[in-house]
Amino acid sequence: MATNKLKSGRVVVKVPASTANLGPGFDSLGMALSLFAWVSLKPSDTTRIMLVGDHLKGVPLDKTNLVYEVAQAVFRKAGIEIPELEIGIRSDIPLTRGLGSSASAIVGALVAANALIGNALTDDELFQMATALEKHPDNVGASLFGGIIAAAWDGERAGYVRIEPPQGMEVLVAIPEFELSTKKARNVLPEQVTMQDAVFNVTHSSLLTAALAAGRLDLLGQAMRDRLHQPYRAALIPGMETILRDATSHGALGAVLSGAGPTLLMLAESGQPEEGRLEAFVKQVMSAEGINVSTRWLKPCLHGPEVRFLGEKDPGYHEAPQQYLASVEAEVGV
Ligand code: HSE
Repeated sequence: MATNKLKSGRVVVKVPASTANLGPGFDSLGMALSLFAWVSLKPSDTTRIMLVGDHLKGVPLDKTNLVYEVAQAVFRKAGIEIPELEIGIRSDIPLTRGLGSSASAIVGALVAANALIGNALTDDELFQMATALEKHPDNVGASLFGGIIAAAWDGERAGYVRIEPPQGMEVLVAIPEFELSTKKARNVLPEQVTMQDAVFNVTHSSLLTAALAAGRLDLLGQAMRDRLHQPYRAALIPGMETILRDATSHGALGAVLSGAGPTLLMLAESGQPEEGRLEAFVKQVMSAEGINVSTRWLKPCLHGPEVRFLGEKDPGYHEAPQQYLASVEAEVGV
């Protein structure tokens, strides 16, 4: 096996979180968000995995770790052998909340492993691998390319177009304290839907994609409506129906379930005076249902992963990854 392209050093990759679906674009539309995870990889004598942050409790510390497995898949595809890795993972993205934490880990591992072998694989190869692992391209596409992604996967190949997010758009996320697995949120979906509902989603998803590409924020309230997944998932998230129905009369441009949930996501115009009113409305609805939520204002993240390469002479190279990752600035890198 070839080893000539292997770089000696530590690669650190910062990856954005993402939201999927944006309402009607089920398994198709995704948007990167200004909330981040970091993956650090370095060839080593034995495999060691170090974690930073409260969000990673329960993540395996052996070779069943997702980052380890994905990195090995990259090396195998490139015909390069690096069996032992020192891995560091930091995530500020809450797990199983519909903010693409697993997609960020997959994309972080793919990009870091690829950087370690001199970018032997193309971005498209990484996207195809990421989609095959996640089984839908929306979150991984947004984390890999930044901005907004419109994608379709036929089980073999994923095609995508990246759209620059409209200017002047902010994102309010309301993250419930309970977790909801994508599996559970997919299990409540029906096997079949009516032609009427299918047509509703095709038309609204098309309008939404075009409105986002054209910067038509005025159309989002209408275009972000969905009949394929949100009505069925509403039973799993108390308060969701009220928020999705009434957020636009409290200052939101549109309101949706973020991915498979349980996080709710609202788009709003930057600098508009009703931000506080919207946030208060969301908190009050959820609290009336007995659900604690943390709210956070984010921005669309305009870029994909940022790669830093630490050579032997760079500060951070000799530190343990958890020390280095704990010190990286959690700046809003949009
Ligand atoms: N499109 C997926 C879903 C997102 O809604 O089930 C989950 O990552």
